[in-house]
Order: sequence, then structure tokens, then C-alpha cells
Amino acid sequence: MNAVEVKNLTFAYRGGDPILRDISFSVPEGEVFVIAGASGSGKTTLCHILSGVIPHAIKGSISGQVSVADIDPRTVGLPQTALRAGLVFQDSDSQIVCTTVEDELAFGLENLCMPPDDIRLRVDELLREFGFEELRLTNPSRLSGGMKKLLTIAAVLAPSPQILILDEPMSGLDPDSRALVRTAIEKQHDQGRTVIIVEHDLKLVTFANKWLLLSDGSVAACGPPSDILAQRDLLVGLGVFDDCPASLDLPVSQEVQTFSTSLDLPDSPDSQTSSTSPVPPPSPDSPEVQ
Ligand SMILES: Nc1ncnc2c1ncn2[C@@H]1O[C@H](COP(=O)(O)OP(=O)(O)OP(=O)(O)O)[C@@H](O)[C@H]1O
Ligand SMILES: [Mg+2]
Repeated sequence: MNAVEVKNLTFAYRGGDPILRDISFSVPEGEVFVIAGASGSGKTTLCHILSGVIPHAIKGSISGQVSVADIDPRTVGLPQTALRAGLVFQDSDSQIVCTTVEDELAFGLENLCMPPDDIRLRVDELLREFGFEELRLTNPSRLSGGMKKLLTIAAVLAPSPQILILDEPMSGLDPDSRALVRTAIEKQHDQGRTVIIVEHDLKLVTFANKWLLLSDGSVAACGPPSDILAQRDLLVGLGVFDDCPASLDLPVSQEVQTFSTSLDLPDSPDSQTSSTSPVPPPSPDSPEVQ
């Protein structure tokens, strides 16, 4: 069963040229799906369509089919879509609207007209789950970048959507905060939620089931990370090669096989660390989060 199905999606902002062109992909329920690509390739635009921001808040012309948890976000309102797919914005400050952590967690539920007693119970649950119990009355503006991101994740999860969509959730965070956010995302995956992550630094999302690479609004590649990593020329051409991991979180035998194929080297564990390897090590300022 697919949580998301997109077929032949083309989109142009009002009065502009197409930004997304004939996009097709599907995300099976419970999988982690990464959308990557150069700046301006249409990643955020795609998230806005999946979460109903486009066309309900931002207008444009859309053609093709979009199914998100069995609804078309274009034909139901934003609140109905939020019950099924929650979007975490790249910029936490533009998503946070309340002056206390607990009010922020309650805000979306109040908009959905949930009974106050149910809201209180759900907020308490989220405060516990995300470690905000001591911070329930804190003004979110006083939180660190990582904690703000966790708060926005908790808030979009308040109505328990089946699908969590995150637009560059780890960008601008220090390594500790990135690890915190990544752990929270993996926990959602472990609990069976479908997770869609926009991330340009592919080293941070090796745990995904699939990567979708966008190039100028079109799908350049879509498949398991190991298959995509084997296409070195494509990665170089798209300008994402330097953001790719030097290794995957895979069993050694599969890892060795993948890199032997992509580098055309013999099947030997030593070949991974060969000095002739064209795969650069991760740069020191973008450490791998294991
Ligand atoms: N509201 C808008 N109206 C008109 N054009 C827009 C709007 N939002 C984005 N665009 C344009 O659409 C294109 C794709 O933008 P989008 O933000 O989806 O790219 P992105 O891949 O998320 O980029 P980045 O990595 O920089 O976040 C860009 O050319 C951008 O200028
Ligand atoms: Mg973007």
C-alpha cells in the first residue's frame, strides 16, 4: 500500500514557467523517502503540494495526480490534509506561533476543534514523548535551534498524521542538534510512520529507503541509496556528489558490493579505502551522524 502516489505532476506558480515537470513517484507506507536536488530544483514546492499549502495558501496551476494517505490535498482543505500529512517547515521561526511550548502543541488541535480535555491529554503525551515536560511554559523563542525543530515536529504530529514531511530539518543545526532531530525522525519511522525528508546533505539520510533526486523540476533518479550511489556520473552532474556518503549504513557485504560496482574495483573490503577511490571522505565540517 502506498502512502503517497504522484503521477505526471506538473506545477507552475501563477504567471510563471513550470517549476515541477512531469514528476512521478510513490512512497510505500512506513518508508523513509528523501527528496534531494540543487537549490531551486523544486523540493520545497513539492512538499507544499503534498501538504496542501499549494494550492490552498499559494496559488498556481497544477496538473497530474496526487494522492496523500488516500486523499487529494488539492480537493480537501488544509486542516483535513494536516490530519494525514504534517509538514515541518525549513524555518522553525516561521512555523512557531505561540508564546509557550504547551500552547504551541495545542494550537493545531484547537484549530481542528478537538475537545479541550482531549487536547490536554494529547499535549501531555507530546510533552513527555519529546522531553518538553520541564519546558512546557517556556517561550519557544528561548529554545535552541534543535529544540525548536523538535517542537515543530511535535506540533505537526499532534493530530497524529500518518505521514511526516520535513523540509531540510537538519540544516543550520550543530552536530548534536542534528543527531537529536535525526533520532526523533528515526523514532517516527520505527513507530511505522511514513517519513518524507527534504535533505541536500545525503550523508545525513543514509537510513532512507529511497532517494528521489530532482534536477530543474524533473526526476533525475529515484531508488534505494545504494543504487543511486552507484551512478557516480549522475551525482557529479547534479552537483550532489560532495554531499554523498562515503559509505552506507548497510551490512558490510552489501556495502562492499555497492562500492565495488560503482568504482569498478575488485570485490575486496580493502578496495573501499583505496587511495585511488574517487569518493571523497566526508568534509570535517559536515560530520556523519551515525
Ligand atoms: N511563491 C513562489 N512564487 C513564485 N516562484 C516561487 C515561489 N516559491 C518558489 N519559487 C520558485 O520556484 C523554484 C523552486 O523553488 P523551491 O523553493 O521549491 O526550490 P528548492 O529546491 O526547495 O530550493 P532550496 O534548496 O533553495 O530550498 C525557484 O526558482 C523559486 O524561485
Ligand atoms: Mg527549499
